[in-house]
Amino acid sequence: MGHEPVLPEEVLAYLGAAAGNGILLDATIGLGGHASRFLERFAEGTVIGIDRDAEALAMAEERLACYGGRVQLHHAAFADLADAVARSDAVAGAGAPCVQAVLFDLGVNSPQLDRPERGFSFREDGPLDMRMDPSCGQTAAEFLRRIPQRELADLLFHQGGERASRPIAKAIVEARRRRRIETTDELAEIIRSVVPRRGRLDPATRTFQALRIAVNDELGQIERGLRAAAGVLAPGGVLVAISFHSGEDGLVKRTLRADDRLEVLTRKPVRPSAEETRRNPRARSARLRAARRAA
Ligand SMILES: C[S@@+](CC[C@H](N)C(=O)[O-])C[C@H]1O[C@@H](n2cnc3c(N)ncnc32)[C@H](O)[C@@H]1O
Repeated sequence: MGHEPVLPEEVLAYLGAAAGNGILLDATIGLGGHASRFLERFAEGTVIGIDRDAEALAMAEERLACYGGRVQLHHAAFADLADAVARSDAVAGAGAPCVQAVLFDLGVNSPQLDRPERGFSFREDGPLDMRMDPSCGQTAAEFLRRIPQRELADLLFHQGGERASRPIAKAIVEARRRRRIETTDELAEIIRSVVPRRGRLDPATRTFQALRIAVNDELGQIERGLRAAAGVLAPGGVLVAISFHSGEDGLVKRTLRADDRLEVLTRKPVRPSAEETRRNPRARSARLRAARRAA
């Protein structure tokens, strides 16, 4: 995540039409970029925000403190978003689908990438962690210790789009026989030793993306989260999901289509303008899809 939220006007157009005076569930509150724009633009709107990263939540809390009771934040993952909504004062006692809009701005936030101790990045050395919620689950180092070579190659190919998936998986398995792979530098060096650098992309980029997706069960979370979101949306309410790679986007597209409570509003995904991409390079691969809960 850059410091600027992606597709800000497009997101506000979809969310505001449904929830300008109502409740927005921001399922990826991050640093509160989209949420603060929503709260600024719609003075009657309120936000329930969740994130599985407690550090992000603390930063969002600080940034959104000026909106007082119009914001309620919960430490939760997508799969538990219905519980978080039920626990919110904004909907106390509603007992029925009651949220007018839901936003998923998928992927990682910038402190996760920028802070070496979170272990997401190969740019600086850190422990090979990659958990969005460091309070539970296995780290990337633990994950790499156990995964069979074939499964690892498939993961790198399907979730990272890594064409050199087999030689990389082989090199990782050979290296782990000699010693534990504990740091981001160690892993990046193993990858760079088998894949020469071509162009600007670091050879470790795709492997790191695939591992992050697996360690955080991102695809499982998206599927369960989108279904749970459809369940908390009031009739006529709108769901917006922004994804950043084709695996995510394909899953969003299929899950929205398969849910008969939802009417898909975007036949093709909405893409950022050339102007936005110039201003905010992270927006380059963003694809927005939206759906409305049937009445
Ligand atoms: C791209 S950032 C969101 C940025 C936010 N829209 C903003 O403008 O500041 C994505 C956030 O979603 C969170 N996240 C990713 N997967 C999640 C999940 N399954 N459950 C809850 N939060 C998740 C990440 O921790 C991260 O903070």
